[in-house]
Amino acid sequence: MKDLAGKTAFVTGGASGIGLGIATALAQAGVKVMLCDIEQAALDEAVAGLRATNADVAGVVADVSLKDQLREAAEATLDAYGDVHILVNNAGVGGGGAYGAWTDASWDWTIGVNLMGVIWGVEVFGPLIERHGQGGQIVNTASVAGLLSGSGNAYNVTKYGVVALSEGLRVELAPRGIGVSVLCPGFIRTRIVDSGRNRPDRFADDQPAAAPAGERLAWIENLRTRVDTGIDPRYVGELVREGIEGDWPYIFTDAEFEPIVEARFAAIREGFGRIRDRVPPTG
Ligand SMILES: NC(=O)c1ccc[n+]([C@@H]2O[C@H](COP(=O)([O-])OP(=O)(O)OC[C@H]3O[C@@H](n4cnc5c(N)ncnc54)[C@H](O)[C@@H]3O)[C@@H](O)[C@H]2O)c1
Repeated sequence: MKDLAGKTAFVTGGASGIGLGIATALAQAGVKVMLCDIEQAALDEAVAGLRATNADVAGVVADVSLKDQLREAAEATLDAYGDVHILVNNAGVGGGGAYGAWTDASWDWTIGVNLMGVIWGVEVFGPLIERHGQGGQIVNTASVAGLLSGSGNAYNVTKYGVVALSEGLRVELAPRGIGVSVLCPGFIRTRIVDSGRNRPDRFADDQPAAAPAGERLAWIENLRTRVDTGIDPRYVGELVREGIEGDWPYIFTDAEFEPIVEARFAAIREGFGRIRDRVPPTG
């Protein structure tokens, strides 16, 4: 999408962090932005802050893990702005827990927000982008954790899912005039480590989780430090704006994890190498 000015975007998780960075960059490019978030107070603050810069933005509260709420948010967007051209499925939570510590509720929460929220965003907004015939762009926020798996936790599983969905939709939606990009950030300075602040009651664990200790505690502390000293989310927003203009398939924020992704590709190549010369029996 070359001409962003005057278009409309719907950005989930728009009240803080990367979503707010994307909403800001798009608004500065003249895009009308509907910010969607589960957290009312943060959303009000974000909308007020952007309006103070004369941006044409509005806010709508919705839990992306509930399809009906996304449908209502879409209606509110059409009422406010007429058409939607850009969908940014960005809301996400750092939920899950490592092997041995995970619970049914933590899997349901993480899958519900990070994966089903993206799937339903596409389902609800895809036809709205298609119907005006002016083309559009979908950006799904995954993570570098969608391309490499440091642990088998729910977060990585959902992010691999978002990468798979985005790569497949890119092929499927191109003939319909919709580009699809997947955003795979590294460490960004946001509130992701405090995702529990927005955990809906229906995903509450039956029993309080044991306080992390030992290696797990060290892992969490390191994660918090990396996020707290991470890349400015406004820079990520600028990259996403550029990615939308250029229809980039993958939007990375930095190259820190490139060697680890390369190592994964090498392991996959090695797997093929083991059986390449064999002839599998068929029929
Ligand atoms: N921060 C990082 O280092 C990093 C790295 C890779 C990927 N990501 C991804 O970036 C995205 C944005 O996260 P962030 O880092 O900006 O964190 P953040 O916590 O600052 O922002 C996430 C936003 O999503 C909203 N949200 C949470 N649950 C929601 C729900 N059910 N419905 C609607 N909104 C909901 C939150 O209220 C918040 O405003 C996520 O998908 C995350 O997985 C973040």
